[in-house]
This record gives sequence, structure tokens and C-alpha cells, in this order.
Amino acid sequence: MSAERSIPVKMSKEEFKKVGYYLIDSIADFFDNIESRPVTTGETGPQLQSILGTDSLPASGMAPEVIMKRATELLYNHSLFNGHPKFLGYITSSATPIGALADLLSTAVNPNVGANILSPMATEIEKQTIRWLAELIGVSPESGGILVSGGNMANFTAFLAARTAKAPKSTKVEGMSNNTARLVVYCSTATHAWIEKAAFFFGIGTKGIRWIAQQDNGKINLELLEQAIIQDLKNGYSPMMVIGNAGDVSTGAIDDLNGIGIICKKYNLWFHIDGAYGAPAAVIPSLKSSFDGMADADSIAIDPHKWLYSPLEAGCTLVKDPNTLIDAYSAHPVYYNFSNAESQPHNYYEYGFQNSRGFRALKVWAALQHVGRDGYVKMIGHNIELAQLLFRLANQHPELEAMTQNLSITTLRFVPVGELPEIETNNEFLNKLNEALLNRLQRGGKVFLSNAVVRDKYCLRGCIVNFRTSEKDIEEIVETIVSEGRRIHDEMR
Ligand SMILES: Cc1ncc(COP(=O)(O)O)c(C=O)c1O
Repeated sequence: MSAERSIPVKMSKEEFKKVGYYLIDSIADFFDNIESRPVTTGETGPQLQSILGTDSLPASGMAPEVIMKRATELLYNHSLFNGHPKFLGYITSSATPIGALADLLSTAVNPNVGANILSPMATEIEKQTIRWLAELIGVSPESGGILVSGGNMANFTAFLAARTAKAPKSTKVEGMSNNTARLVVYCSTATHAWIEKAAFFFGIGTKGIRWIAQQDNGKINLELLEQAIIQDLKNGYSPMMVIGNAGDVSTGAIDDLNGIGIICKKYNLWFHIDGAYGAPAAVIPSLKSSFDGMADADSIAIDPHKWLYSPLEAGCTLVKDPNTLIDAYSAHPVYYNFSNAESQPHNYYEYGFQNSRGFRALKVWAALQHVGRDGYVKMIGHNIELAQLLFRLANQHPELEAMTQNLSITTLRFVPVGELPEIETNNEFLNKLNEALLNRLQRGGKVFLSNAVVRDKYCLRGCIVNFRTSEKDIEEIVETIVSEGRRIHDEMR
């Protein structure tokens, strides 16, 4: 009998269990005491590089136990924790613990969810996840869709489906330069930067974006939108799509989706909604009417890794008609035996950009069941109440100016009081002061906020997509903002 072959990557069952149990124990402790750590250590790149070391690639392997122990120490002691209760920055949520377990399982089985034949059950789970996401936000469960890496990709996926549907049919073969249609798209000035990338990736060009002004309440101005479409038609352009925001990235404002839908119908335009952040709030009964019109959209971006608390990465494109994705993305190379005459398998590579695809659906599917609709109503509702509390506390505080409050986003700024020279009361000074304050807070480790510019005012922005944040955290955050604001103001004088 030949001796057993030594395979460098293999772990014995005992070794896997030993390292796995260590890992699970350490993650359980990490989740249990996350609030006792700083939000971030604020260490610089060079500091982190010296901790990590500059060794070259190891020639021979080392024990998994040693590697995982080092990995946990490096990550627990030198990370920024978006799961910390005082992390209210950007739109990155505290992640569901069940999502971490689901990711472990999904990578253990490792289905390739590009083709049905390679991922029979995983494909069905992704389909069910998409149906449930549609149900959660009140759009038809017959919608099609695909899970992608995040909001940018969800919006890109929809954008190319829109272009395929609205550009001349010859475009697939002739390319954009060979057709005469000068395609243009419409969105409010509050739209996330993905739109500029999409415009140049997909041949519209950034000149083809018509930026429509917002009203004072942050919503797109529908009158200006319609005027722009009429003007473009007169000038020989081909209006292609309108993008509505369902929770814009800066202040969380929701456009009049019904109004946009009516305009899209009238001019035969694709109606896309960027609900990457805000769409899950449609689950709250009292907010349902703010999302009126969402069910009429041709496509919707919704990100489970934002307000459904999924671990990164999980975005989703929903489309009213699944064939619109097939039209844009399907291809049948000879080397794929993924379709046959007897069945019409659901191959996800035909619905989006990716070919080989991981099983990101499992963490979303698991959380949707662990939490349930009622659980999301409770958590999302609480996040909104906390954002409202932050706004109220800022409003009541003499040194804070509360600026905007929509969904779970509040913007505010520090405004010093007392006998101040005139130069310290102008907007330019206040903008510099608040920018310096944000930088200090972001590195300080007590709280992590981000920024927004509202009517030329540089603001601090708290976006609460965090199931660990409490009323007490919000009160303490306000105290931290004010005490750091005073300190910075003193330093700037
Ligand atoms: C409204 C909106 N759209 C798109 C994005 C981009 O999402 P991602 O960072 O997941 O690509 C964001 C990110 O915050 C967003 O708020």
C-alpha cells in the first residue's frame, strides 16, 4: 500500500474543528463586547504596516491555528468596527451574526451560482431571497432580479438593462458610436456618484446626465424634470431613463416616485429607483405612502448590506420584467452546457455581469428568516426614532444647528456661541470648523460620523443602520460632538 499523499491545503477533521471552534468562540466574544472597544484605533497606514510586518511570501506553509490566531488579533485590535453602537458613518450597517455563520456555510459548500447545474439548491435559495426582498418592500414577487456586490453594481446592472431596452436594437452589434440616438438620463443633483461611472462605462457620457435641481425638501423638482425632457426631445436627444432616489445618499430624501413614474409613462422612459439605502423602510406601515409608485418602477436597486444589516457584500437589482436582464446579459458560448431543450434552467450568469458567482444569497436568506418582517419593522423603525432623537437634541442644543432629518439620516453642525468676531460667524469659517471636527471625530475612536453638504453648509451626518445603537449612545454622541467642537474652535482661534 502506498503512503498517504500529503496535500498542503488539506486540514484533518480534528484540526478543522479545533481551529473552527477557536474562531467561533473568539467571534462570539467579539460580538458580545464590541461596544467596549474604540470604534477605531485611528492608526495610520505606516503604523499598521509595521504591526503587520513586511516579510516576503512564506516558502513553506504554517499551522492554520497560528494563522487564524494572528488574523483575529490583527483584526480585533486594529479595525474600524461598523458594528460598534457609535458607528453612524456613511451607510455601512452593523452586520447580522447569522450572516457570519451563513457565509461560513456558503463558502464551505462553495456553489458557483453562475449556472443552475453548478448550484441547484443555491440558485433556488437566491430566487427565493429575491422574491422575499420584493415582498418586503411591497413590489410584485413576480419581479426578477439578481444579487450583486452592492449599490453601485445594483445600479449599474439596472442601467445597462435600461440602455439595452431603450437604445436602438443595433447597438449590441454596432456599438454606441455607430448609432444616431443621443441618449440622455435624468436624475436629481442628490444622486450618488454611481451615475457618473455608469454614464461613462455604458457610453452615455457624463454630458448625457441631466442633473435636475432638488426642491427645498430634497426631492427632485418634477416641473424642471419634465421641462428638461421636452427640451431634449426638441433638440434631437433620446431621453432614456429617469432615476428616482428612495433615500438619497446625503440626506435620505425620497423623491416623488409616483410623479416620476407618471412622467416616465408619458414619455416612454425607463423608470429606475435607487433604493440602495432607503427601500427597506417601505416595510414600515406608516412610511408606505412615501414609497408610492415604487411598484411601477422598471428596476430598483436595494442593498441588503445597508439597511437589512447583511454583512458585506450584498446588493440586489430587482426588475419588473426579468426578460430585460436576459436581453442585456444572456450569452450562450459553445463551451457551456448550461441549457438544454427539456428544461429552462435559471442561470444567474444570464442576469448580470458576473460569470462565476459566490453564494451571497445565503446570508440574506438566513437573516430574512431569523429577523422576519416584524423584526425589520422594529429595527428599522428604531433606527429612524434614534435619528429623530439626534435631530431633536441638536435642535435643542445652543451650539448645534440641526439641518435635515429623513429616514435614519440626520445632518447637523457645530456653531460656536458667545462674543465672536464676525469672521467666526461666516459660513466659510463654520465649514472649515465642521470639517476639522469631523476629521477629529473620525480618528478619535469615540464616535464615527460622516459628512454631507447641505445648501453649501458642511454638516456632520449620522446615518443609523445599526441595530446596536441606543438612545444613550445618541445622547453621548451629542456630548462628544459638542466637547470636541469647542476644543477645535479654541484651537482655530
Ligand atoms: C443611494 C445610494 N446608492 C448607491 C450607493 C453605493 O452603494 P455601494 O457602496 O454598496 O456600492 C450608496 C452608498 O452609500 C447609496 O447610498
